[in-house]
Amino acid sequence: MRLLVTSALPYANGDIHLGHLAGAYLPADIYTRYHRLKGDDIIHICGSDEHGVPVTITAEQVGISPEVFTTKYYKRMAESFKKFGIIFDNFSRTSYPLHHKTAQDFFTRIYEAGDIKPKTVEQFYCTKCKRFLADRYVEGICPYCRSPNARGDQCEACGKWLEPTILIEPKCKICGGNPMIKRTKHWFFNLSSYQKKLEGWIGGKKHWKSNVIMFCSGLFREGLKERPITRDLNWGVSVPIAEAKGKVIYVWFEALIGYISSTKEWAEKKGDANLWRDYWQNEETKLVQFLAKDNIVFHAIVWPAMLLAHKDYILPSEIPANEFLNIEGEKLSTSRNWAVWLPEYLNDFEPDPLRYTLAVNNPETKDSDFTWKDFQVRNNNELADILGNFINRTFTFVIKYFDSRIPPSHKLDEEDKKFFKKIEVLPKTVGELIDRFEFKKGLKEIMSLAGEGNRYFDYKRPWETRKNDVEVSEKTIALCCSLIATLGTVLEPYLPFSAKKIRESLGIEKSVWKNSADNKLTGKNVRNPGILFKKIEDEEIEKQVTKLKEMRADA
Ligand code: MF3
Ligand code: ZN
Repeated sequence: MRLLVTSALPYANGDIHLGHLAGAYLPADIYTRYHRLKGDDIIHICGSDEHGVPVTITAEQVGISPEVFTTKYYKRMAESFKKFGIIFDNFSRTSYPLHHKTAQDFFTRIYEAGDIKPKTVEQFYCTKCKRFLADRYVEGICPYCRSPNARGDQCEACGKWLEPTILIEPKCKICGGNPMIKRTKHWFFNLSSYQKKLEGWIGGKKHWKSNVIMFCSGLFREGLKERPITRDLNWGVSVPIAEAKGKVIYVWFEALIGYISSTKEWAEKKGDANLWRDYWQNEETKLVQFLAKDNIVFHAIVWPAMLLAHKDYILPSEIPANEFLNIEGEKLSTSRNWAVWLPEYLNDFEPDPLRYTLAVNNPETKDSDFTWKDFQVRNNNELADILGNFINRTFTFVIKYFDSRIPPSHKLDEEDKKFFKKIEVLPKTVGELIDRFEFKKGLKEIMSLAGEGNRYFDYKRPWETRKNDVEVSEKTIALCCSLIATLGTVLEPYLPFSAKKIRESLGIEKSVWKNSADNKLTGKNVRNPGILFKKIEDEEIEKQVTKLKEMRADA
């Protein structure tokens, strides 16, 4: 099986926060790591989304050129992803020439096929700022849900994709002035003519998440409309039509193509410039695209329509869109600075406790909540007290009583067999859940078996049997080690840093996702991995909550 995994390209206009991680990158990383351990041919592609108003407007606000601004955040994002253990096979930039060319060729192809047509339209124009107010340069009341501060491109409250001119009481985002209406020419993508095909295509995806299906059927009911895909801006990919000089391609229309450009760049780096075709142009490849719900319209409607219009590419097989992550019970908002930022988190804590907390609270079917208190409780009561404790007591026993060597398992009784059976099936159970994007359940299965490990240990009392029936104590410990070895594999997608320590303490260099427990442990040397999960104190948590509140006050 060949898999092409993508994560939505984050805007290079700020740091990565927990909402990003829970929405796309962590699930994508878990999925990719799992398939890699299984030995599947899989690549995880991403990059930074560097054009468009979300970038220019923020760069303008801080008074930095978009080039310098995006470079700064590209680097910061790449670095914090890496530290957090999110592995991309390539993390590109849409500002690269390769992307500009790929996007322009794509545009030209659809234009020549007749799916892109010009039209003279009325746009908001700010006389004070002397420019057209594209997308987020204008704000107003959403005509659908009436929420204030809807942006010209999308209403965050109801998720509708908007056109600026339909906003009620529009205001220039920069100067607050009332914009006037001015005529300009733009090029439109003929989305409406793809409605039938898209409906048929999504109709065949009965197993897709209901958030995606519902969102799309809502749009189909209203009817898809043609959409302008050019903008009057001076930062972006130039429209490859002589007549459109000075205009750029709408950021979404080119950023999506960034998935292809980034794969091309990956292939070039691999030394085989055509390798990307195996992924994008082979019907046997499964394209799996991770994103959060605010991106559904673009990935489930616009993007497949673009791919259909172009004709040379495969369509997504899966769009496992996540819901949102709230912070301390409130909607995450970068403009109000109500967010937990990854670089700051990483200054204070290890990656795995956060990976754990986000995976257990993964907003798979509904919005979920991150609280610092929950983070502490999960770390202390689950990671440290259940998982860490089980591993630690087992290894301590091996080191102290069996000269650091894993003992043989001898003849198993009914109790042992039951326990061993559970260890054996764990990788299969977890793997199937990960494959169905039920990451939360997968992790719960793992943790529940770790908990059972503790109960098995208590029940078997190896510290007593050691004195009167050493074989019993040996097999008890052997089975516990067997579970630990399996944990070292199945935890790798979720907690890669801790899983590595677990494997290293058992001398296992590389783990393979197998549907049976590793039984060749007898005689292996065990090293104590030290404390796997440090307890987090109340003061550390209070500090974080205070910081969160102070940051908002400053914003
Ligand atoms: N930058 C967008 C966001 O953060 C996502 C772009 S996904 C892409 O919401 F495919 F268009 F790149
Ligand atoms: Zn203005």
